[in-house]
Amino acid sequence: MLSREDNDVLCRVGPGTPGGTLMRRFWHPVCTSAQLPHPDCAPLRVRLLGEDYVAFRDTAGQVGFLEELCMHRGASLALGRVEEGGIRCLYHGWKFSASGAVLETPNHADPKYAARMKAPAFPVREEGGIVWAYVGPIELLPAFSRYAFMDAEPAHRVVLRINVSCNYLQLVEGGEDSSHVGVLHTNMARPGWKDNDFTPNPDVVNPAALASKDLEPALKIEETAFGFQYVALRKTHKPGVRNARVVPFIVPYGRIIPAPAFLFTVLEVPQDDTHTSTYIVVHGETPITEEKIIELLGLNDPRYYNRKDCTFTASWADTFGQNRELMKENWTGLRGVEVEDATIGLSQGPLYDRSREHLVPADQAVVRVRRVLMESVKRAMEDKQPAALGLDLRGVSACDAQLEDGANWQDLLPSHRQTVEAQESADARR
Ligand code: FES
Ligand SMILES: [Fe+2]
Repeated sequence: MLSREDNDVLCRVGPGTPGGTLMRRFWHPVCTSAQLPHPDCAPLRVRLLGEDYVAFRDTAGQVGFLEELCMHRGASLALGRVEEGGIRCLYHGWKFSASGAVLETPNHADPKYAARMKAPAFPVREEGGIVWAYVGPIELLPAFSRYAFMDAEPAHRVVLRINVSCNYLQLVEGGEDSSHVGVLHTNMARPGWKDNDFTPNPDVVNPAALASKDLEPALKIEETAFGFQYVALRKTHKPGVRNARVVPFIVPYGRIIPAPAFLFTVLEVPQDDTHTSTYIVVHGETPITEEKIIELLGLNDPRYYNRKDCTFTASWADTFGQNRELMKENWTGLRGVEVEDATIGLSQGPLYDRSREHLVPADQAVVRVRRVLMESVKRAMEDKQPAALGLDLRGVSACDAQLEDGANWQDLLPSHRQTVEAQESADARR
């Protein structure tokens, strides 16, 4: 349970809020590279942390990220012309480069005037099929954090964005909640559940395919430099062996979920207090297609997902497309992992009041998310370094493995320790 005040601290991300102060210390995904498909393509409106921006790709292929409203008199640049090395406002023709240089001001043609001005442009990077921007105080600009998926071959990687109309923390908490996997995702986690029979799901791409039908995993948590890692230990049919699923939480909203042959890196980026852009990046050692992932997630139906604007479209208007007849065989009457997760997030309302909940030991990792975020908010408010900021995250991973009694679960992912040690030696040098 959280007090309403603390709930607001963690959930609200607008300018000037404590949570927004934390968020503004980090680089954020702002769109997929595919949403700006070619030079001089249509610009994109982007909402991030309660503020509006425009992203565009100039003639040379460089991405620019500016405040949405033109610095002259506030027309939206998302309606502008993208041409000849910049974005041009429709209203009076002022033109801006990707770095924010004012290139032309046709209704005030004095070149010295344009040279004196600078449009509000923000640092941008394009990595791993995602456009990232930094909108925080420029004097605190952190090193760019690399993830393992950025080194994957493009054919071995799929990047998806799904806009969901609820607060980011609901979606984050769903991701750090191992005990829901065997229940909400029953169809994929425990095939044969209807007949109390268990045969592991053979789909090596499915992150909800569990190796055990144990519904009451024991959780163990360890703090790390990037946030924390936790393990969910489930009984198996072999004596002395448990199934161990290790998942990291990366401040402020990241996680990695293991599937047998792929990793799912998931980033829940707040658009504002009641809207989130979920970025899911799947990568592994073998080729994978977007069609396969879209189907697995249940998004291969326009009633659930608009592939053009990346919006999750299911709603209460048709009870999220839930099929009660199907529920005789199918646990949720819904379809696919993401449809189930996003539907549950939406069902909690736009911004859930956690002063009303009743937690149990299986919710320990969810509680830890809040604690780590609260500490990070405090550090950011004191101008100190929050967890994960500026770290190289390529060693952060996840796994689903068998663990013999007496073995150390932390040894399953030694790179997490190394990330901790790298941070400690960096701290010592400071
Ligand atoms: S408002 Fe953009 S040029 Fe005037
Ligand atoms: Fe889930």
